[in-house]
Amino acid sequence: MKLLVLLSLFGLGLAQHDPNIKHNRTSIVHLFEWRWADIAAECERFLGPNGFGGVQISPPNEHIVLDSPWRPWWQRYQPIGYNLCSRSGNESELRDMITRCNNVGVNIYADAVINHMCRTGSGEGNHSSCGSWFSAPKKDFPSVPFTQSDFNDDKCTTASVKIENYSDANQVRDCRLVGLFDLALEKEYVRDKVADYMNKLIDMGVAGFRVDACKHMWPGDLSAVYGRLHSLNTDWFPVGSRPFIVQEVIDLGVEPITSSEYLQLGRVTEFKYGAKLGAIFRKWNGEKLVYSKNWGEGWGFMPNGNALVFVDNHDNQRGHGAGGAAIATFWDSRIYKMAVGYMLAHPYGVTRVMSSFRWNRHVVDRKDQNDWQGPPSHDDGSTKSVPINADHTCGDGWVCEHRWRQITNMVIFRNVVNGQPHSNWWDNQGNQVAFGRGNRGFIVFNNDDWELDVTLNTGMPGGTYCDVISGQKEGSGCTAKQIHVDGDGRAHFKISNSDEDPFVAIHADSML
Ligand SMILES: *[C@@H]1O[C@H](CO)[C@@H](O)[C@H](O)[C@H]1NC(C)=O
Ligand SMILES: *[C@@H]1O[C@H](CO)[C@@H](O)[C@H](O)[C@H]1NC(C)=O
Ligand SMILES: *[C@@H]1O[C@H](CO)[C@@H](O)[C@H](O)[C@H]1NC(C)=O
Ligand SMILES: *[C@@H]1O[C@H](CO)[C@@H](O)[C@H](O)[C@H]1NC(C)=O
Repeated sequence: MKLLVLLSLFGLGLAQHDPNIKHNRTSIVHLFEWRWADIAAECERFLGPNGFGGVQISPPNEHIVLDSPWRPWWQRYQPIGYNLCSRSGNESELRDMITRCNNVGVNIYADAVINHMCRTGSGEGNHSSCGSWFSAPKKDFPSVPFTQSDFNDDKCTTASVKIENYSDANQVRDCRLVGLFDLALEKEYVRDKVADYMNKLIDMGVAGFRVDACKHMWPGDLSAVYGRLHSLNTDWFPVGSRPFIVQEVIDLGVEPITSSEYLQLGRVTEFKYGAKLGAIFRKWNGEKLVYSKNWGEGWGFMPNGNALVFVDNHDNQRGHGAGGAAIATFWDSRIYKMAVGYMLAHPYGVTRVMSSFRWNRHVVDRKDQNDWQGPPSHDDGSTKSVPINADHTCGDGWVCEHRWRQITNMVIFRNVVNGQPHSNWWDNQGNQVAFGRGNRGFIVFNNDDWELDVTLNTGMPGGTYCDVISGQKEGSGCTAKQIHVDGDGRAHFKISNSDEDPFVAIHADSML
């Protein structure tokens, strides 16, 4: 009896850490700024068939529309209210997308911006994505409604009412983040309005949330909001399933506010992961692949069951947020594919793959004046849809990293090896390493400036396997390098440092 009670309490506590992914799938893709209609189609034609577990969508709620600079991507991080019309589409398109994705086993996670509303100086009028009137000078948002007393300015002690000192936790939680009006989440009324918004999405069928700017909210206030959330829609999820929660907390180990304050509430974004992995593959700061032998908690990352991991996100791929120039992105595609491959092969964390749009850069500096650019758009500022080319890549400025063969195939690899231990590690004490996942998969990297030529114990059953990086198994054939594993599990690998992608991966389902 006691055990049962304990188990059920434990289950409840852990529930918000569980992404509720179906069919033993393992990865989420962030379709940054995509329109709902395009996401619905992508779930059906690509994500479902290729084993993606879920999509993180851009904020679905009503946001400010800014003409200066012209429709920046960050306008969606300035809410005007909780109506469900945004740059990605209206409420019926959102509902259609959630339904169609759920019907092919792909979860939807909404980006919830609940720390703040729009920025000071936004003026007043109907320039929001649903056309609702609001007044920034009066802190009046009638579509919710929120008024002056629903904001934290009275609690903030800085002269500017903005965060001035990140070493002062009170400022970070109670003052305006870059001038954004900070909601008073300690008020029952504000908590109710936020929870109503999130519950509307849960009832429509989302599987959880990426919660924006959690460092800027008190854990106790977040706990009160999460406690009000409904269980998931039983059309698609087992009775009593709790919404998955991923909290954005940027913790690189240098501020008083830490990820650990949020771990009991849900998963947390592990920002150290991409910063370190980028440095390793770039070979910066003396980093080498061999040092990743104890990747994960051994590197001071949060406990495995709490982490959401990613190589880059929509902020730090353009120099915002955290990690600086070490972050690997699609702009450095060779390094990027290796880093994403490493992440997807390694058992640590719930993995999120980034899918981006291009912006205009000046030469080499990623932190340039175009870091604000919004998604590919028509002249009237509306977002372009995502055209799919004959070779399955995307057009019109949409990068679609998730459709790159090497990345898609590693998403499948992760599903095939799910639950298997990290095993059969090998390294050359430099930047050539290999590891397996039990007897289900094996991966070998050559990030040194010379050839890799070695025979390794893979732990795999004997047979011929098709490499899923240089090509893939198609029918009974193989468009890639073939790897012959002996009866004792040993196989010979040869990877030139000048190969297009200097890594090789095989798994149980790529056996010929
Ligand atoms: C999921 O994995 C478990 C354990 O490996 C297996 O028993 C089950 O059949 C799998 N379910 C699906 C839907 O593949
Ligand atoms: C939502 O958008 C679709 C597609 O543009 C349109 O057909 C539909 O009328 C819109 N619905 C509402 C309620 O505005
Ligand atoms: C703009 O806001 C005003 C005041 O609430 C309202 O009367 C008007 O209908 C709104 N305009 C549009 C286009 O929604
Ligand atoms: C920032 O806040 C910390 C913690 O309250 C304090 O020790 C430090 O002196 C502050 N720095 C400045 C420049 O005010």
